[in-house]
Amino acid sequence: MAENTPKPAAGKAPAKPKPAASGAAKPAAGKAPAKPKPAVPGAAKPAAKGAAPGVAKPKAAAAPASSGVYKPPVDRPDPNPYKDAKESAVGNWFQERFYNVMPIIDYMKKKEVPKHRLSFWYYFGGLGLFFFIIQIITGLLLLQYYKPTGAEAFSSFVFIQKEVPYGWLIRQIHAWSANLMILTLFIHMFSTFFMKSYRKPRELMWVSGFILLVLSLGFGFTGYLLPWNELAFFATQVGTEVPKVVPGGAFLVDILRGGPDVSPETLTRMFSLHVVLLPGLVMLFLAAHLILVQVFGTSAPISYKEAGLIKGYEKFFPTFLAKDGIGWLIGFALLIYLSVMFPWHLGLKADPLAPAPVGIKPEWYFWAQFQLLKDFKFEGGELLAIVLFTIGGVVWMLVPFLDRKASQEKKSPMFTIFGLLVLAFLLVNTYRVYLQYGW
Ligand code: HEM
Repeated sequence: MAENTPKPAAGKAPAKPKPAASGAAKPAAGKAPAKPKPAVPGAAKPAAKGAAPGVAKPKAAAAPASSGVYKPPVDRPDPNPYKDAKESAVGNWFQERFYNVMPIIDYMKKKEVPKHRLSFWYYFGGLGLFFFIIQIITGLLLLQYYKPTGAEAFSSFVFIQKEVPYGWLIRQIHAWSANLMILTLFIHMFSTFFMKSYRKPRELMWVSGFILLVLSLGFGFTGYLLPWNELAFFATQVGTEVPKVVPGGAFLVDILRGGPDVSPETLTRMFSLHVVLLPGLVMLFLAAHLILVQVFGTSAPISYKEAGLIKGYEKFFPTFLAKDGIGWLIGFALLIYLSVMFPWHLGLKADPLAPAPVGIKPEWYFWAQFQLLKDFKFEGGELLAIVLFTIGGVVWMLVPFLDRKASQEKKSPMFTIFGLLVLAFLLVNTYRVYLQYGW
């Protein structure tokens, strides 16, 4: 296979602009010889001083002497610089049509990933992407049978579980992959945090990633209600109650619920958020995140290069991607194992008039916040907890702009400690909920 280096089209000399009329482009004495004179006074200014000798400005040359109307030069170079690069038949087919995007592919081929003792953590971003792709595929399959109404939602889930061939498996994969995706994203976030990958120039990779995590949590929250079962119903009732303590929050809750309480109206709203708005937003931020990954490449931890801890570099395409593929296979095996061995039960159909069952709790990724709210059960405590959590979230999102030392390639132990405290808070509070409620 030939290299993809641009070559001029065979047999074609680079196009020389023709003088518009004889005598129109006479070289002025002592100046660059081929500098054309404007055909009509004032129509085209002479080229700036220092222009390469012999290079005539096509614009001036193409302008006809008489009419002053611009006529593009007829003898143009072939626009496809890859024309003579021999590829496979399929490669040639694409090159002939999409030669404009070839430089992007060439650029991506150059991307390299540094090899060091923490390289293992680089695989979690790709694994998160893998689980997201699984979510889209299985979500689309579930959509073929799911009915988002209070009357039919639960029974359509029963139908998917019991009647649709492999429907049970698709549903379990969708539910488990959602959990694994969020777990993977947390690991990805903390690993990039502790490696300080967010530092200059990757600030927007961190910000776009953080937004992706928030959107993923939104997916979890809105998807939880869709089976319209008892547990999800009351958990949503409790969860959507929380913003009410914030001024103006009641209005927001009304919009989210479609009324004062959780009702079939809420189901329709959660459904539209889950299958239209959130996927659209995720696609947008995911595209930005992945483009930035290509533009900036993969970082190495601070001072690793200077300390000689980089063992070398490997090509992203195909070496790193192939290793990513191994991670995806392991992730897929785990996903199937969990889906088959530990199915999520549907429980009972939601009954808004029934008393709330005991032990209502949200999904595990909201346990830390849930515990904080429980700990702040004093006058004004809930509001304080929400304010603290919101400030914490904003600070966390802006870390790349606050950690000035890291951006100067200097170690920033204060931020490492901050990250450890955040991680400890999440783990300890999550474990406390587990101790009280079980899984
Ligand atoms: C749907 C969610 C996400 C997907 C699919 C995703 C995907 C990826 C991929 C494939 C990479 C390149 C490989 C790697 O370094 O792991 C990457 C890099 C990165 N991601 Fe994410 N990511 C997501 C969410 C996040 C989150 C939540 C954060 C942090 C708040 C984040 C921050 C970063 C940073 C800073 C890098 C650069 C790593 C480096 O250059 O060393 N990402 N992401």
